[in-house]
Amino acid sequence: MPKALYPGSFDPITYGHLDIIERAGKIFEDLIIGIVENPRKETLFTPTERKEITERALEAEEISVSKVITFSGLLVNCAEKYERESIVRGLRANSDFEYEFQMALTNRDLAPEIESVFLMTSGEYSFLSSSIVKEVKELGGDVGTFVPEIVEEKLAEKFN
Ligand code: PNS
Repeated sequence: MPKALYPGSFDPITYGHLDIIERAGKIFEDLIIGIVENPRKETLFTPTERKEITERALEAEEISVSKVITFSGLLVNCAEKYERESIVRGLRANSDFEYEFQMALTNRDLAPEIESVFLMTSGEYSFLSSSIVKEVKELGGDVGTFVPEIVEEKLAEKFN
């Protein structure tokens, strides 16, 4: 059974990510969540905060993974370090495709032995993103249907 890495910014984790993690957990026995430390975009939460929030959200939703790690540098180097054969990414709408395609081909060029695997999100989360969640919360909206309670609490702490 191939071992997989599900990488992302997770700033913060949403039900959309959790949906992909659950799906990936049915395919891969050994799944690591990799939180990028230095994404190209500015993050609301620090890597340590994102890791803690992700771990607590997984616990609250009773979803088990092998471990949650943070990484810097190239994704394929992280995958190699943890002996992963697969990189998992979630796909929402068409708009995700171009970026994911570019990333998958770049990663294949850098490390041909690692396969990118794409999982379709549930229709109910196809519009959801961490950016939308942050914007709604910052503007005083309810994000209870988008993220677990622990994430909502952490967002409230940031914006209060
Ligand atoms: O959740 P995100 O922000 O869409 O995740 C993007 C991520 C972390 C997968 C991507 O930025 C990444 O792989 N960063 C590591 C740097 C890298 O390997 N770049 C070259 C591949 S395009």
